Amino acid sequence: MRTKVIAGNWKMNKDLNESVTLVSEIKNGLTKLNSSSEIIICPPYTSLETVNSLIKDTAINLGAQNMHFEDSGAFTGEISADMLKSVGCNYVILGHSERRKIFLETNEVINKKVKKALDKNLKVIFCIGETLSERESNVTFKVLEEQIVNGLSNIDNDKVQNLTVAYEPVWAIGTGKTASPEQAQEVHEFIRKLIAQLYSDNLAQDMKILYGGSVKPNNAASLLSKPDIDGALIGGACLKPDLFLEVIKIAG
Ligand code: PGA
Repeated sequence: MRTKVIAGNWKMNKDLNESVTLVSEIKNGLTKLNSSSEIIICPPYTSLETVNSLIKDTAINLGAQNMHFEDSGAFTGEISADMLKSVGCNYVILGHSERRKIFLETNEVINKKVKKALDKNLKVIFCIGETLSERESNVTFKVLEEQIVNGLSNIDNDKVQNLTVAYEPVWAIGTGKTASPEQAQEVHEFIRKLIAQLYSDNLAQDMKILYGGSVKPNNAASLLSKPDIDGALIGGACLKPDLFLEVIKIAG
């Protein structure tokens, strides 16, 4: 049995004071839920250290939304794995479709980041997903396979155990459109089979595969009830503590 994972990607939202308010509300709400799920929150860089100090005595995990693949040096504006660890992160989101699309990150760049993060003992939420035009041209599985094979190239079994996949169809992110539970399950099953081919059956069975794209309390139950959907990566709804907590409650 894989435990459910509920992760919140705050994106470029919440200044320091707002972050304190949001994390305090999540923390208080969680004490009443007795959730068995693994909870991860990913605030912007500027709030990581403060949020970390507020969740220290809880089971909430701290993640960043991105990082650079080099250890240090002349990379103005970038943040390294060690920097993230020094402010309490144990997770990092890599390969988010907004990074791919807006910041032109390729599978090769994402592969370097994934490798570095895992080498530094950060756990990775590795995002993949097809665009609407790719889905409509029936290349969804081909695109996802390329993202996985290239994104995980030269990453060994022992390292990939610390990786969680997040399937986020680009057309469902922030749009209010969700993949149907059946559409999502079909893709999650495909991903698990591909991981089994690339690594092993055991590893594929243990790997968590999250769904992301307009997850909200009203669609969480049907998505999370599917056998290969192990949790959710939530954007919009994680900024509202009542909605985020409700999804956590639904996950059980
Ligand atoms: P959304 O974002 O829940 O607002 O669609 C999900 C994500 O981008 O991770």
